[in-house]
Amino acid sequence: MTEDKLLYTGKAKNVYQADNEDEVLIVYKDQATALNGKKKEHLPGKGVLDCRISQVVFDYLIQNGIKTHLVKNISDHEQLVKKTDVFPLEVVLRNITSGSLVKKFHVEAGQKLAEPIIEFYYKSDALDDPFINESQIHALGIADKKELEYIKEMTLKVNDLLVPFFAQSDFDLVDFKLEFGKYNGEIILVDEFSPDNCRLWDKTSHHSMDKDVFRKHEGDLVETYHEVLQRLTTK
Ligand code: C5P
Repeated sequence: MTEDKLLYTGKAKNVYQADNEDEVLIVYKDQATALNGKKKEHLPGKGVLDCRISQVVFDYLIQNGIKTHLVKNISDHEQLVKKTDVFPLEVVLRNITSGSLVKKFHVEAGQKLAEPIIEFYYKSDALDDPFINESQIHALGIADKKELEYIKEMTLKVNDLLVPFFAQSDFDLVDFKLEFGKYNGEIILVDEFSPDNCRLWDKTSHHSMDKDVFRKHEGDLVETYHEVLQRLTTK
């Protein structure tokens, strides 16, 4: 892939213009980052695992009626996807208390929430992705009321599909982050779904099997992601 076609370089992926004007190529990198890029490590094999896990999850969502940007995987670490206008929002859904929710409210980690929580963050590396509320999203013209309602509805639908999907492989889906974009006026799911942007706990041991292993120095991240892929594909 020639560098003149590079559209965007992210923490875990590069994005290139594809031959078709309406499509882009995502190339997953062998890199783990945390603390908004302040902690960074080259981890051979990670890109392939992120790409393959995300493909398994997106394929399942697509089979169950969720519209996504995925066109096809063209190698074990490259995906062809539709080129969308991405909303500058990180949509977080939580089923179980963990992470920043525990830090913010001093609640005990590992508690099942009475209902899923949806939170929005404004995507900006320079600002460290600040929390943004619905009224700010509308007033700043980031998404209108109808678009935001649809994004929330899709996020809950994804959760309803993925909680039992991961449970079959003995994982609790604690929380996750989604991103959405617009393609021909339609809102679709974009980005990836891998243990980089969700929390998966082993149902029995409650051990983390996601990027918290890297964030908290709890073991070998590539080995952990390998086991996640293995479990998802051999159930
Ligand atoms: O850190 P926090 O508890 O708010 O994260 C909630 C979920 O969103 C976690 O699964 C985390 O991996 C994901 N997340 C992400 N990208 C960010 C922030 C959080 O994928 N920039």
